[in-house]
Amino acid sequence: MTTSSPEGVSLGMPQLPPQAYPADVRARLEADAREVVARYPDSRSALLPLLHLVQSEEGHVTRTGMRFCADVLGLTTAEVTAVATFYTMYRRKPSGDYQVGVCTNTLCAVMGGDAIFEALQEHLGVGNGGTTEDGKVTLEHIECNAACDFAPVVMVNWEFFDNQTPGSAKRLVDDLRAGAPVEPTRGAPLCTFKETARILAGFPDERAGAVEASGGAGPASLIGLRLAKGEAPPARVVHPRAGGPEESQPHDPSPSEHLSSHDAPQQTSASDPAHPAGPSAEEGE
Ligand code: FES
Repeated sequence: MTTSSPEGVSLGMPQLPPQAYPADVRARLEADAREVVARYPDSRSALLPLLHLVQSEEGHVTRTGMRFCADVLGLTTAEVTAVATFYTMYRRKPSGDYQVGVCTNTLCAVMGGDAIFEALQEHLGVGNGGTTEDGKVTLEHIECNAACDFAPVVMVNWEFFDNQTPGSAKRLVDDLRAGAPVEPTRGAPLCTFKETARILAGFPDERAGAVEASGGAGPASLIGLRLAKGEAPPARVVHPRAGGPEESQPHDPSPSEHLSSHDAPQQTSASDPAHPAGPSAEEGE
């Protein structure tokens, strides 16, 4: 193994073994790790939650954390490193308290995700993966988070901020940096990245109301469900930005105007009266 520069370029120098955690930290993490490992019939299956656990300790997955996972699970550090570097939810360098992910996958991109990302880069003075000087915000592109009904979506520590605009996203990061109260559009209240990582490791979220908080599917998704049940779709779909975070003026659409082109009921076989959709059958029935 050789060292690498901050840019990830190999310098060809032998790399020292990672430092061990201080004894008290290791003892605490070992107790947590035993609880996680006990959930699985095969201990190596606990690697993903254990990587979240060590990420909750330091804010990113360090070589020390990977060595700890390898020791606990009886794996090689190479095996642990292969997993930790594969998944983008594991951060490999020090990052901010709030990971602000802008979805720039296809639908969010065309609905404004690209514009939001550009605006935030300029506003924060950082690029993809960059962290603000105060250590509060790390900005990054993210892929589709299955919230396309609410495009464009921004996620902070994996909590949803729906139907964003460049203006609302800039206000969001300003509030995060200022320590002002910030509430996700739906789901559990926001917490720091380290706290989020511990929850992802499988430990209970003990904040009042956090477990009960949830978000429903968007209207476009529910139209599909209603069609599958043989119900009539609504005459029109309310635009998700109506009453959203942007300072847009209320808009009263004409009857012929469908405000969300991607979720408009179409004259397909499923909505054709001559070919009504019945309850869908499972494959093989
Ligand atoms: S494309 Fe952004 S949530 Fe699906």
